[in-house]
Amino acid sequence: MSAKYFHLTVKEVIDETPDTKTFTFWHPIHQAVSYKAGQFLTLIPVINGKKERRSYSMSSSPNRDASIAITVKRVPNGLVSNFLCDNLKVGDAIEVMEPMGHFIIEPNPRQARTIVLVGGGSGITPLLSIAKSVLPVETQSKVYLIYGSRNEENIIFKKQLEALESEFAGRFRVLHVLSQPSYTWTGYKTRINQASVVTFLKQDFALDIAKAEYYLCGPAGMMEQVEAAIKIFGVTPAQIHQEHFFASHDEKAMEEEEETSSLKEQTVTIQYEGEDYQVLVKPHETILEAALRDDIDLPYSCQAGMCTACLGKCTSGKVRMDEEDGLTDNEIKQGYILTCVAHPLSSGVVIEIE
Ligand SMILES: Cc1cc2nc3c(=O)[nH]c(=O)nc-3n(C[C@H](O)[C@H](O)[C@H](O)COP(=O)(O)OP(=O)(O)OC[C@H]3O[C@@H](n4cnc5c(N)ncnc54)[C@H](O)[C@@H]3O)c2cc1C
Ligand code: FES
Repeated sequence: MSAKYFHLTVKEVIDETPDTKTFTFWHPIHQAVSYKAGQFLTLIPVINGKKERRSYSMSSSPNRDASIAITVKRVPNGLVSNFLCDNLKVGDAIEVMEPMGHFIIEPNPRQARTIVLVGGGSGITPLLSIAKSVLPVETQSKVYLIYGSRNEENIIFKKQLEALESEFAGRFRVLHVLSQPSYTWTGYKTRINQASVVTFLKQDFALDIAKAEYYLCGPAGMMEQVEAAIKIFGVTPAQIHQEHFFASHDEKAMEEEEETSSLKEQTVTIQYEGEDYQVLVKPHETILEAALRDDIDLPYSCQAGMCTACLGKCTSGKVRMDEEDGLTDNEIKQGYILTCVAHPLSSGVVIEIE
């Protein structure tokens, strides 16, 4: 299926915190946007005459909320997050790519499970969607949220989370963890790390760590520490779901510089929507960059190996990826690649894009 593009009109703009806004959208007139809890939209605003793309997870729930919503936190000097927060207003239309992503949950009324959500900063958005979607449907399941913020005024969705806690009393619990709270804060003053997360799970929530399903979304360091902690208790990779919002660009740039020296110019065949395209990929380019340079309209969003919008399958030749975290080991074994971080390592590379 090729990527679908359409426009959404802003219905409402809500100030969540001093640097975070929620934008709700009207569904298009002819067809409601269908999505799963945890998925993201790719927004394509035109800034200084150029189309930019950024991914934003839905903070709304497909089965509970009438409107689709995204929640954007300003990144210092960030191009798109500040543009959206400063300019996008009620009645504006913005181009988007259809919802995508594998950080999803499909609520099932027959399930009786324990779901642990761990988030930091803007990483709360898909977690809120997941909580709102699961709680009303899975009446036997329990959901626990550990949410890290800088201080009280930076807690996104504080009131919404409190309202959900009272609506689903006994089945939804939230633990706020602040790194720099005010002196009046009586809760935890720490970061979510390998040691503290075990305390939260065992002492605050009294959970059997090995038996829960985990959804993690926040800074990469936080997710690594949580993963390391719960694995010690026997949690398997299949129980852990992660969404990365940001790549460590500096680290990535350094690695790429070292590694491009071993790459050669190669011609790659891309099979997309029934056509075969021959693309010359230069050593410093990814396969996606080379295809876009040749005006081949391949699907993509984050361009950092995180969102999987650019998924393809290598059916011939050898390919190397700068970043493999976006795919499971099984997907990599089957030949799946992310074109935005992939380089051809041999001649005769063929990539199939669905
Ligand atoms: C699947 C997915 C879902 C996402 N969902 C959301 C969401 O729901 N809400 C949301 O606010 N964002 C979300 N993001 C992040 C979002 O797509 C943008 O990356 C973010 O808004 C920054 O874009 P920008 O154009 O403002 O910054 P850019 O102009 O792209 O970046 C400016 C500089 O800041 C650095 N930078 C970017 N982010 C950070 C950070 N957090 N901390 C420190 N440095 C940073 C960049 O490396 C760059 O050097 C998501 C990303 C992905 C991949
Ligand atoms: S565009 Fe997001 S993983 Fe490639």
